[in-house]
Parts: sequence; C-alpha cells; structure tokens
Amino acid sequence: MRSALRGILAVIASASLLLTAVGCPFGGSPLPNANTLTLRLDPSLAGEDADAPLVSAIENAELLSSTGGVVQTATISGGTAVFSIGTLIAGRDYFIRINSLADALVPTRLDTTTGAVEQSISPSLQTSVVGPANEPTYRVRTFLQPHKGIVRYSNGLELVPRQTAYAVLTRTTPPSLSIRVLGTGEEVNSFSPTVTTHPGIGPSLQPFDTFTLDLLSTAHHGAVYGGDDTRCSACHGNLDVKVLTFGTITPLSANGGWCFRCHYGKLGDELGFVDPLQ
Ligand code: HEC
Ligand code: HEC
Repeated sequence: MRSALRGILAVIASASLLLTAVGCPFGGSPLPNANTLTLRLDPSLAGEDADAPLVSAIENAELLSSTGGVVQTATISGGTAVFSIGTLIAGRDYFIRINSLADALVPTRLDTTTGAVEQSISPSLQTSVVGPANEPTYRVRTFLQPHKGIVRYSNGLELVPRQTAYAVLTRTTPPSLSIRVLGTGEEVNSFSPTVTTHPGIGPSLQPFDTFTLDLLSTAHHGAVYGGDDTRCSACHGNLDVKVLTFGTITPLSANGGWCFRCHYGKLGDELGFVDPLQ
C-alpha cells in the first residue's frame, strides 16, 4: 500500500513539475493566453543610430515597481519572458530588469491588465513597443549612457546624480509624449500636440509618433532636419533661439525657442532632455 501511494505521489509530483515547465496556471506560471505580458527581443526595432546591443538573448527578467522592489520574476519560455499582469495597475510605469542589467531597465506600461499583451525590445534595450507591432499602444525610448542624462533648462547642465531619461509616446486620445526618469517613472516634461500629424515638410505629412521618435527607421524629425535649419525655420523660426523661461516657448514664431522644448537645442537628444523646473 505504502509503496503504491508513494508511486502515485511520484506520478503527481512529476506531472506537476511538467505542468510548471510548460507554464500551468495552477503551477504559478502563466499560460501564454492568460493575462500576460510577453517580452521578446526584436533586432529590427532600432532607429538610425542603432545603439550598441546589450543582450543577445533574454536569460532572466524581473518586473520592478517604481520604488525598485521586485514585483515578479518572469517565466522564460522559447526565448521570451512571460509575466502575469492580472495584479498590475494599468497606466502605471514598471521597469523590467533583463539579465540582471540594473543600469539598462526597460520601462513598460499597460493600458489593460487582461489578455495577452506583447512588448518587443531592441537588443540595445533602448527601443521598445508595447502592443501590436503595426499600431503600438506605447512606443518607448530610453537614453542610456553615453546619451546625456536629464539637463537643467536654465543652463543645459546635467542633474547630479545623473537621471536617465526615457520617453513614452502614445497616439491614443490625446496623443502625448512624456519624458520620465528611468527607475522611478517620475515625469519631468510632457507634450501633447494640437495636431496629430506634423504639418509636413515639403509635400509629406508625418504622423506624430514616428515623426517624434526614432523607431523603425521612419522619417523621424532629427533625420528630416539633417542639420539644415531652413527645412524647419519657415515655421519654427530661428532654431538657435532659447527663450528665457520655458513657459514662453511657442512652436510657430520667429524666436519661439521650439528646439529647446524637449531637448536642449537643435542637435537633439545628445544635448539631454530638459527639466523645465531647473
Ligand atoms: C509647415 C510648418 C512646419 C514645418 C516646415 C516644420 N514644422 Fe514642426 N511643427 C509644426 C506645427 C504646426 C507643430 C505642432 C505644434 C502643436 O501641436 O502645438 C509642429 C510640431 C513639431 C514637433 C512636435 C511633434 C509633432 O509632430 O507635433 C517637432 C518635434 C517638430 N515640429 C520638429 C520640426 C522639425 C525638426 C522641422 C524641420 C525638419 C519642422 N518641425 C518643420 C509646423 C512645422
Ligand atoms: C516634442 C518634443 C521635441 C521637440 C519640440 C523637438 N524634439 Fe528633437 N527629439 C525629441 C526626441 C524625443 C528625440 C529622441 C528621438 C529618438 O531617439 O527616438 C529627439 C531627437 C532629435 C535629434 C537627434 C536625431 C537623431 O537621429 O539622432 C535631432 C537632430 C533633433 N531632435 C532635432 C530637433 C530640432 C531641430 C527641433 C526643433 C525644430 C526639435 N528636435 C524639437 C523630441 C523633440
């Protein structure tokens, strides 16, 4: 009797081990079609200035809260990291630590905590999209070193200690670009366009999302500008002007200081994203 019972227990134990390995909800690991966030590497997700790759495969991944605590450890399956999202809070930023790389956190935000949500990240861990690839809910860019950290609007100097900037862009109503601090999610600056399509340079209209962020090598504003002020100055005026107070920046004026609205001047993110209050 005893040995028969032991045999049955052994069968149950190995069956539950197997179920855990394939991702059984009763074993604590989510099934792919449950309420999950599945994170995968996508080498095609890199802008023109492809940042150096940091990982070639996801070996482990942890979801951190904005105070740095580990909320969950992912199940690694087929090269993807799967998190269960049922208990997360929609609209809040979390940070994913991949392969224990504490300085290269990947921000994530969900507009729902039900269903199967997908997030793709570039091997540099700096470019990512949440949601369907053809129409992502959120587009995220992180500016790790050697990019500058967040700088003071007053003088362009980096804050000490360094604050790594990331940008989250959404096209939902209203569309917005939000610049935040990596790790805490604190918002530093934001912009909501009054027109969802950039008025156009030459004959073409550019959608706000791909015009603002350098993803998938689209016609992003830095590339369209290409160092030629005359491509932008007809509408945005003198690109070298920086107005005294952040609050008086205007997009369409001869001396409106538009190129200092998000980063410190016309060379772009290499000069750092500005903190309007500093
Ligand atoms: C035909 C006029 C026009 C030209 C030319 C133009 N812009 Fe704009 N730009 C606008 C307007 C209008 C807005 C929207 C302002 C708002 O929504 O408040 C805008 C907004 C932006 C934004 C914010 C993102 C967005 O899509 O709303 C960026 C970045 C920008 N312009 C960069 C540039 C750069 C760089 C150039 C030159 C390559 C340029 N613009 C040329 C009119 C123009
Ligand atoms: C609404 C915010 C915003 C405004 C206004 C803005 N930029 Fe940018 N800019 C960004 C962001 C965000 C990036 C980083 C894009 C990325 O790396 O995905 C960037 C990057 C750049 C880059 C680097 C591009 C590259 O390929 O590395 C250049 C150059 C640039 N911007 C030029 C300008 C000029 C010129 C203006 C003024 C006409 C301007 N920007 C106004 C948000 C803005």
